[in-house]
Formats: sequence, structure tokens, C-alpha cells
Amino acid sequence: MVNLGDVFPNFQVDSTAGRIDFHEWLGNSWAILFSHPADYTPVCTTELGRVVQLVPEFQKRGVKLIALSCDDVESHKGWSKDVLAYVKETKDFPYPIISDKDRSLAVKLGMVDPDEKDSAGMPLTCRAVFIIGPDKKLKLSFLYPATTGRNFNEILRVIDSLQLTATKKVATPVDWKAGDKCMVVPSLSNDEAKKMFPDMTVVELPSGKQYVRMTPVDSQVRM
Ligand code: BEZ
Repeated sequence: MVNLGDVFPNFQVDSTAGRIDFHEWLGNSWAILFSHPADYTPVCTTELGRVVQLVPEFQKRGVKLIALSCDDVESHKGWSKDVLAYVKETKDFPYPIISDKDRSLAVKLGMVDPDEKDSAGMPLTCRAVFIIGPDKKLKLSFLYPATTGRNFNEILRVIDSLQLTATKKVATPVDWKAGDKCMVVPSLSNDEAKKMFPDMTVVELPSGKQYVRMTPVDSQVRM
């Protein structure tokens, strides 16, 4: 298992873009590794198609994309044509898909779905998402079972939060989206917070404690 803040393990694998050394492929970019259970399955087709449509949004944020499942590279290449057709795209498939035939990565990264097996009784991968920072450390992860498709708009939203909070002393509240006000992090004293965020407002609460401190995002003074 990889914990938040761990350097993401390196590995060498076959993919639709040839042999990949993961750390070399990452460089010093943000990246998302996302797994799916199997090729030629309906929910996976909708998910990978949605990611194809969202490629410009990931590019805008400087985030590389790489998918993974237990099928072999030839199967990935054949299926990716269906994925493109499903979302009515005619371009080349825009991101690599890793083959993890022996499930070694699924086991190493804790991505095995406990309930889903292939026709030979081998376990399938669940729907994992790992968001990795330019320092190669894990910034966010989640695991969905094979039967629940992910929401990739939510993945873009959390990337916006991760990239913002990586450089500013703020946290993003419930249902936050890019451009909304943020919370000043609790580790800053009120004096420090007022200096750093001149436009900060404090929400009055029955306890009298001034811990809900909101600020527009662009108003942090560099200190
Ligand atoms: C699917 O992608 O539709 C799927 C794959 C494995 C199990 C259940 C659904």
C-alpha cells in the first residue's frame, strides 16, 4: 500500500506506448494513474472515453494521464478503438494503458477488487485513482469497486484543490470549486492570517472561536 506523502513506487511495465519506467515517464510533472477492471467492459468504456474528452482539461493543469488494467497490450490497443468510437473521437488514443497481466502491480498498489474475477478465475483490478505530485509523492488516492464508475469532473476538482493548496496556506471547503473562497489553514495564528490574507473574513460562531476564516484565493501576500 502507498500512503499519502510516500514517494510513489517505481516499476517497469509494458503499455500501449511501449515499455515504461514509471518514474522516468513521470519526470517532474503532476500525473494520474487510474486503473480499471478489464477491457471490453461497459463502465470502463465510458470512463476511458470521458478521460479522452477531458484530455485538454488535464493538459491545462499540467497533469499526465496513464491507465492500467490486467489485459494485455494487444487487447488494450483493440479496445481503445472502441473507446474512441464510443465518444466519437477520431484522433489517436491520447494516453498510455499499462498491461498488468500477472497482477503484480495490482497487488503491490492494493488495487485488487475482492469481488470481480476474469473467466480464468483471476482477480481483476478495482477502479483506483492515484494523483502524484511533481515530487513523485502520492497526493491523493481513492478506490472504487468495479461496479461503480468514477466522476472525472471530481478528479479535476481535486486536482485544482491540490495544486492550489500546494503553494498557498489555504484549504478548500466542502463542494469547493476553482474560484470559490477558501479557508485559511488552522496552523496560522489570527495575526499571521490577517497579514497574509488582508481580505480574510472570520465567521462568528457560538463558541466565539475564530477558526472559520475565509479568503479569496488570489489575495495571499507573499511573506
Ligand atoms: C464494467 O466496466 O462495466 C465492469 C467491469 C467489471 C465488473 C463490473 C463492471
